[in-house]
Amino acid sequence: MKTMAVCLLCALSTNQSIQANEVLALIPMPAKMTTCIGEFTFPENLKAYVDHYRGDSIQLVFNQFQEDLNHATGIKTKSVRTGKKADIILELNTSLATEAYKLNIDQKQIHIEAARPVGFFYALQTLKQLMPRNVMAGVKDTQTDNWSIPAIEIEDEPRFGWRGFMLDEGRHIYGKDQVKRVIDIMATYKMNRFHWHLTEDQGWRIEIKKYPKLTEVGGWRNSKVLGWGNTQPDGQWYGGFYTQKDIQEIVEYAKERFIEIIPEIDIPGHSQAAVASYPEFLACDPENKHEVWLWQGVSTDVINVANPKAVQFAKDIIDELIDLFPFEYIHLGGDECPTSKWEQNKACQEQLKAIGSNNYRDLQIHFYKQLKDYITAKPAEEQRKLIFWNEVLHGNTQPLGTDITIMAWVGADAAAKDAAQRGMNTILSPQIPYYINRKQASGPNEPMSQGSGTETVKAVYQYKPMYQVPTDLQDKYMGVQANFWTEWVTDGSVVEYLMLPRLAAVAEAGWTPEEKRDYDNFKKRIQKDQLLYELKGWNYGKHIMNE
Ligand code: ACM
Repeated sequence: MKTMAVCLLCALSTNQSIQANEVLALIPMPAKMTTCIGEFTFPENLKAYVDHYRGDSIQLVFNQFQEDLNHATGIKTKSVRTGKKADIILELNTSLATEAYKLNIDQKQIHIEAARPVGFFYALQTLKQLMPRNVMAGVKDTQTDNWSIPAIEIEDEPRFGWRGFMLDEGRHIYGKDQVKRVIDIMATYKMNRFHWHLTEDQGWRIEIKKYPKLTEVGGWRNSKVLGWGNTQPDGQWYGGFYTQKDIQEIVEYAKERFIEIIPEIDIPGHSQAAVASYPEFLACDPENKHEVWLWQGVSTDVINVANPKAVQFAKDIIDELIDLFPFEYIHLGGDECPTSKWEQNKACQEQLKAIGSNNYRDLQIHFYKQLKDYITAKPAEEQRKLIFWNEVLHGNTQPLGTDITIMAWVGADAAAKDAAQRGMNTILSPQIPYYINRKQASGPNEPMSQGSGTETVKAVYQYKPMYQVPTDLQDKYMGVQANFWTEWVTDGSVVEYLMLPRLAAVAEAGWTPEEKRDYDNFKKRIQKDQLLYELKGWNYGKHIMNE
């Protein structure tokens, strides 16, 4: 009743609400939010009522919050048995959608409702953003002595279920700690899919027990810098990979932050490192020399899809991926796969004839079809859905059925629409402007990367996902994703510099209703996160921070 009364006041004070909304540095902007009169002041000992849930998982989510709150403010938390005397209540409400939450704050109490632990996690991320940035950072705040937050009513849920970020570690590898930092950045902005691009022409980064040479040979190359134009390979021995134990650790870390990992094994193209490891059955021309690539670009040294041992190789890898990644999706790549070597190879020529096609792209589809059938025959708990880059649409996709997902990058809007019209799900990751490894500004001080600086924060923010898509296709659009390719990026701190703050812009496109998005308002809010970045030691682009 108390909340109702306060909110009646809110309804009468629209101007104040709008004004207040502008200064609350919430990213992504919630779907519905009304600021109310008054504020809640945290007591020194916060009494918390937390609803029960399988595996104590709401409590675990609250514990993470509690730890950060305590580190920043010194406030302690005490559990109470009922909501009546609590300062903060986390209450199950199974009528809400999976990622949705309600957060009501009045002078007396903070009241959170959600149907699942993830909803509570997001509510608590929002609550942290209502506080000084030290709370999100979990770092002691010596400036603040009165821990008050505005009375507010938020009803929030994401526009899209897929809010992703892809990191290419095939070209350069950054290590476990850097990957965890990336996951932390994603979690700050309620992103929920980490697409981990683990294999490339220039390096294989995941231990596969059945094929040890993939990392013994394929994980290493004779140059740190990748050749391009006048830039020559530098002759430095470079590489590395993630052991299966490392992967398990990162999977746990991501799960605690409600982020699913999508491992990508990019086959049969972008596979020169694999071909160099096992040329005897992966190469179209095993008699020639094959090495992990030292150059940027698209290698023609692709897997011989007509060799049954190559198909078995891919199936064996899928088995290990299923064991390692307890999530819904596996990405099999499929982009930029030259067919020139298949065209010269007798077995490939014969297979193309046997499948009744004269389009070499269909050999790639036939390869995937065998892998998809292999997964489909597995028990329920081992089922995984497959994602492909949009070039797969250049073949006859009929054998693959419609229960695959197309990640649209080149000509993204048209490709996504094509996928949706074929009945497939799709994810928007438009090269321009969502490849956030590209330069975010021009000028001599920018680190070497692709592009000329036109993918600014503003350009990224202003891309409109699912723009003018007919209503009957919209349910095929799963969401948005920023991608980060690392041809030029040798150092994790540059990954952060290019990611931030642009990833936050993509996160907001994935979460906030289009009509509530506004760049000038976003800019004001993101400026407050500069302190968070400083406290966390995250590198970031400062271009719009003082505009
Ligand atoms: C891609 O950018 N090659 C997916």
